[in-house]
Amino acid sequence: MLNVAIVCGGDSGEHEVSEKSGAQVFHHLDRLKFTPYLIRVSREGWFCLTGGKEIPVQKNDFTLSIKGEKLHFDVVFNAIHGTPGEDGKLQGYFDMIGIPCTSSGVTTSALTFNKSFCKKVVASMGVKTANSVLLYRGTIDPAYAIWEEIAFPCFVKPNNGGSSVGMSKVNNAEEVEEALQKAFHEDAEVLVEDFVQGRELTCGVIRSDGEIIAFPVTEIISKTEYFDYEAKYKEGLAEEVVPADIADDVSEKCRNISMKLYEKLNCRGVVRFDYIYSNFEFHFLEVNTVPGLSEQSIVPKMVRAHGWTLTEMYTRMIEECLVP
Ligand SMILES: Nc1ncnc2c1ncn2[C@@H]1O[C@H](COP(=O)(O)OP(=O)(O)O)[C@@H](O)[C@H]1O
Ligand SMILES: [Mg+2]
Repeated sequence: MLNVAIVCGGDSGEHEVSEKSGAQVFHHLDRLKFTPYLIRVSREGWFCLTGGKEIPVQKNDFTLSIKGEKLHFDVVFNAIHGTPGEDGKLQGYFDMIGIPCTSSGVTTSALTFNKSFCKKVVASMGVKTANSVLLYRGTIDPAYAIWEEIAFPCFVKPNNGGSSVGMSKVNNAEEVEEALQKAFHEDAEVLVEDFVQGRELTCGVIRSDGEIIAFPVTEIISKTEYFDYEAKYKEGLAEEVVPADIADDVSEKCRNISMKLYEKLNCRGVVRFDYIYSNFEFHFLEVNTVPGLSEQSIVPKMVRAHGWTLTEMYTRMIEECLVP
């Protein structure tokens, strides 16, 4: 039996979603192979939630002290969306103390969490991305007009964010200032990006037994203007069609691009690539290296459509990250 630390929480606007993901993994983990522990990590502290109690985690070696006995973890299941779980910080810590973790490594996590840098690398691999400009807090020249480089409508988003928090679709120059303020409230870096009109498709990819596997492509149809926070988490505001109602060759193309990116970016565990399909081409928006795993999330739907149970996928993720 392996002791599995399911880490959840984190310090971003996604912490509640992450707690739902963690609870879901805890619920489905195979008890014949693993003993799961749910651990909430945040700036307020790191605690194991067990039997209605909160046991503090010893940060020097990531252990628990229970009735005078030290409890070690064999592996970490990462369910933290956003910082510090999706941007490489926690991966660096687990690397340093030598505990394997289900998600991508330090460099891949840090690169992919930075939407702007990730788009540049992805573009160099021959995949289309929307034209964009990256702004840093406190360094914007007031005479600089973003709209000389970016057409309207455009998206203004925190460069290191998720769940559409702090994001706006901007239709004209009058709306820019408010959108920038909202995005800078979440992050010191803001990405301004051309709007791409098209269908929203997303593809989950995993490596298991050394093989890269793409799940069925899924279409996101939002009733709101775009796939914003409300559409993501409020019942009935978005429809996720798995598998997407698209031609076989379009679906194959999406899966092939996603598997190629997974391999070239050196991802680990389950990740989800988001695209807008427009003019017969895929425009890469972002990759989620710790995608949502709650009951409402997209990945569980993809996994079931692929014919696996969640229990099976979690076992595969853990077994894969234990391979030396
Ligand atoms: N350039 C764009 N063109 C069209 N829609 C976009 C664009 N950027 C973002 N969106 C919409 O906003 C949503 C969230 O954007 P995304 O970049 O995936 O950030 P997050 O990390 O918050 O999910 C997307 O799912 C899509 O609906
Ligand atoms: Mg997204």
